[in-house]
Amino acid sequence: MGKYLIAITGASGSVYGLRTISALVSGGHEVHAIVSAWGDRVISEETGRPFASWIEELGLSRDRVYDPSDMAAPPASGSFALDGMAIVPCSMSSAGSIASGIAGSLIHRSALACLKEGRPLILVPRETPLSLPDLRNLTSLAEAGAAILPASPAFYQKPRGIGDLVDFIAGKILSRLGLEQRLFDAWGSQAEDGVSGRQS
Ligand SMILES: Cc1cc2nc3c(=O)[nH]c(=O)nc-3n(C[C@H](O)[C@H](O)[C@H](O)COP(=O)(O)O)c2cc1C
Repeated sequence: MGKYLIAITGASGSVYGLRTISALVSGGHEVHAIVSAWGDRVISEETGRPFASWIEELGLSRDRVYDPSDMAAPPASGSFALDGMAIVPCSMSSAGSIASGIAGSLIHRSALACLKEGRPLILVPRETPLSLPDLRNLTSLAEAGAAILPASPAFYQKPRGIGDLVDFIAGKILSRLGLEQRLFDAWGSQAEDGVSGRQS
């Protein structure tokens, strides 16, 4: 089982982050989490509850949830041997900070530690349209070794609701971390009549 860090920043789509955490915890992985102040605000706006009220439901250990201002927390160090980190969703502000090498919060410092140690780092940006600075920052991050995995779910899976769209992105994150995922059917595993082969 792996050791993963999931950070939630203040972009829309907080449920992608919550779902990614729950899928990793369900898979038996050691999951650490950081939520920015604006990430917490967006979680409240979008789910009606702050992150603190989700911790137990997600199966997270409270001692693995870090204050984003605590630069002395374990993920700040490159010696904290993560198997991967995902920032989901990732605000353009956080993307810009990391792209510039500015470690102003534990989230940014942890991401930069992953880059310097050559560990998997996935950013799930959510913004539209993208400005030229956004595009340049995302390009810099890709050049530095991060995977840019936009929060843009596919519709060829014939989603039955928002949950399927969220699962598609969470499943993509798990796959990019090198994990087997069962959150959506891989293309080609659908029945010939076009009906998804997944079990409901
Ligand atoms: C309800 C709400 C939705 C937001 N959605 C986005 C978004 O989709 N993408 C984005 O880049 N910023 C979005 N923002 C702005 C960020 O929260 C803001 O830039 C913040 O400084 C990000 O800080 P953080 O990266 O430390 O979380 C949103 C803010 C609010 C209040």
